[in-house]
Amino acid sequence: MTPARYAAITGWGEGLPPAVLSNADLSTFLDTSDEWIVQRTGMQERRIAHVSAIEMATIASHRALACAGLAPDAVELIVYGSCSNDEQVPNCASGVQLALGATRAAAMDLNTACTSFLYGLSSATAMIQTGMVKNALVIGVELISQFMDWSNRNVAVLFGDGAAAVVLEASDTPSGVIGTVLGCDAEARQTLRVRGMGCDYARGEVTYGDTIWDFDGQAIFKRAVHGMSDACARVLQQAGVSADDIDLLVPHQANLRIIEAVAKYAGVSMDRVMLTVQRYGNMSAATVPVALVDALKEGRVKPGSLLLMPGFGGGLTYGALLVRWGDRVTPLGTSEATFPAEHPSALEMVNAIRMRQDPHGRSHDALFAPRFVESLHQPTT
Ligand code: UT7
Repeated sequence: MTPARYAAITGWGEGLPPAVLSNADLSTFLDTSDEWIVQRTGMQERRIAHVSAIEMATIASHRALACAGLAPDAVELIVYGSCSNDEQVPNCASGVQLALGATRAAAMDLNTACTSFLYGLSSATAMIQTGMVKNALVIGVELISQFMDWSNRNVAVLFGDGAAAVVLEASDTPSGVIGTVLGCDAEARQTLRVRGMGCDYARGEVTYGDTIWDFDGQAIFKRAVHGMSDACARVLQQAGVSADDIDLLVPHQANLRIIEAVAKYAGVSMDRVMLTVQRYGNMSAATVPVALVDALKEGRVKPGSLLLMPGFGGGLTYGALLVRWGDRVTPLGTSEATFPAEHPSALEMVNAIRMRQDPHGRSHDALFAPRFVESLHQPTT
């Protein structure tokens, strides 16, 4: 296969579950308030899924493929970016492959936490550029609600569920990802840890789905601003463009104050920043692709637009991609794929998860054998 120079984004679609969890809903079981959450984060509401992560990803993928006019059986690669997989084995990309009927596609999961979509987009672009595949479906999806520690107000107010996907196709016209900076600030990996997800915990008395979040918000905040700002500066330099050339900043949406700081350091005025944090909170790997799809729907991406996409997440991974949009900003087709209409309210779903997590009223600490957890996190020499 002849290598293509570019991987154009030809399709896009989102899978946002309909149930809305408001700040007022959170205040019914946490010592928090709408005022605090809006002031400190900018968030007003977020979504809670009544379906699996694979189902969310499949709806987004159907829409993205219809948008690109690409048949599922023509897809050559599926990259499933997420850190909240329905299952570890089998992998989740295979679930999407089966649901779509994308029988010829290679199917891989990729987890760099909140940056999984950005890492996935750059990996799939590189695979197209080397000629390994000629198209790819790249998904950012997250079902955080099932793994949230709903007793911890430091984190429970911040996250939501959602999915979005894009289709990449080989192209010789300069478009798609034209600049990439990826990195990882591993020294700070202990500042964001979800205890309970992973094999290390299977040895302890932890029920799958019970979690404690180690979350040093202020440290993450500072390193996120530093990592993303640095990545933005480097990717602009790499591509030989300036901040004035950026038509739209489409950042990871973890906190409005973080976005404002990154935009300021990057030299991009707030009228050129796509914001969804108010509506959906932090959907981890899904935030950037959902913001991109919303920007297209709102007509904020024009033919030839230059987009800057910075992100950060657990690890602490970070990165910034520079994307040159192609000629087409409207879908070639639409899909009828949608969410099942019947669902409980978001608060009812969250209360059901809370009951499952702590059915006997025990504190979360009691669910984790303390000595076991401490021994896990001793530095190795
Ligand atoms: O995608 C990667 C995910 N990580 C992140 O996005 C984390 C980035 N960090 C942040 O976004 C911010 O640090 C937070 C939103 C998490 C916290 O904002 P902050 O301005 O750094 O607040 P803080 O942690 O300094 O807490 C201030 C106060 C504390 O009370 P005291 O000690 O001043 O009495 C907290 O206990 O606010 C209290 N607090 C809350 N109050 C009401 C913390 N969470 C809440 C809450 N409701 N939900």
